Amino acid sequence: MKKFTLYPETIMKHFKRPKNMGKMRNPSGVGKVGNLLCGDVLWLYIKVKKGKDGKERIVDVKFECFGCVVAIGISSVLTTLVKGKTLEEALKIKKDDLLKATGPLPPIKVHCSVLAADALKEAIYDYYARNKLPIPEHLKKEHERIKKTLEKVEERFRKYVELQKEISKRV
Ligand code: FES
Repeated sequence: MKKFTLYPETIMKHFKRPKNMGKMRNPSGVGKVGNLLCGDVLWLYIKVKKGKDGKERIVDVKFECFGCVVAIGISSVLTTLVKGKTLEEALKIKKDDLLKATGPLPPIKVHCSVLAADALKEAIYDYYARNKLPIPEHLKKEHERIKKTLEKVEERFRKYVELQKEISKRV
């Protein structure tokens, strides 16, 4: 009998054995993003090197995720897709490409796929900013949106921690 699963097989495979998980030493760029709906957070690290063709490529990628099954699974899938890509190619990867690679998610979990796609944009933005390289206009706009969301998530988290402290003083 086929086992029932809420998530596509690819998600479960990557969740159970995530690829490229962990912190990277001396990354070229880091993307930190938060999900406003659930408060989950993802860090994506990239190592960028210029190839013989003069193009900057993502030669290594890692992630750390404080999130759900889908967030972890899809982050792992993303890392397998971006390795070896030029920055321009990587920037073209969208949430829908990730969903194509994993298979459809239950509608209530689609928001979980946004984290990985946004973290990649932020890591590339960070690489450009660190190296004082020109940042494409569309990426600047995305960065502003993602940064604002993360600030809201962090503010909510701070309030939550304060509340926890208050409660633990009373009990
Ligand atoms: Fe938060 Fe999935 S529930 S990313």
